[in-house]
Amino acid sequence: MRKQLGYKGFAAMSSDDQKRRAAEAALAHVPEGCVLGVGTGSTVNHFIAALVKSRIRVAGAVSSSDASTRLLRDGGIEVLDLNSTGDLEVYVDGADEATRHLALIKGGGAALTREKIVAAASRRFVCIVDRSKVVDVLGRFPLPVEVIPMARSYVARQLVRLGGQPVLRAGVTTDNGNAILDVHNLAITDPAALESEINQVAGVVANGLFARRGADLLLVGTDSGVDTLKP
Ligand code: A5P
Repeated sequence: MRKQLGYKGFAAMSSDDQKRRAAEAALAHVPEGCVLGVGTGSTVNHFIAALVKSRIRVAGAVSSSDASTRLLRDGGIEVLDLNSTGDLEVYVDGADEATRHLALIKGGGAALTREKIVAAASRRFVCIVDRSKVVDVLGRFPLPVEVIPMARSYVARQLVRLGGQPVLRAGVTTDNGNAILDVHNLAITDPAALESEINQVAGVVANGLFARRGADLLLVGTDSGVDTLKP
């Protein structure tokens, strides 16, 4: 397929190529012999493939989803239980949106709760994205909120009071057996405050704002290379 011509005539890469670039750059942040946290999504799938092909030997991985667990095992990487590993050295995951301050929206793949747990238990969070994910203000991507099924309507009413328009993600049950509400039309100017406020609503398991524990490093795949952003 012919590549589109981008800035100054460079062949523009697809966002998938940019994801692969960011994913491969993350290998430099994986210490030999460590127990690694691994997130979920198409960018992480590139990361797992690159890790399997690399010479880096990890002691094992804690996975944030059944989908990543399958890929890790297929690649010969042992998947460990977070209850037996203690804190992890590094967590590698993608995002749906990221600011230059390294606050994130995650959960497009419905794995946000486990992702939040693994991020919280990791000393370093390396986030890998393509250029399209970097925004000035979070919220164009609908904010995923994982809810206990019986609280779905109650939580939705509270989210409307916060100014959002929640929509039930049809046909989706999370790995934890819960539902996802995607909240549209939020302009999130204070991500940490909104993250805390949504967490206070009874029936909310987790929300997709990663601001209180954002990324420590953002690797952005672009047409010309990989940009590295720190908070
Ligand atoms: C999974 O629940 C999400 O948090 C993913 O990290 C996010 O959706 C990024 O996905 P892609 O890497 O497929 O864009």
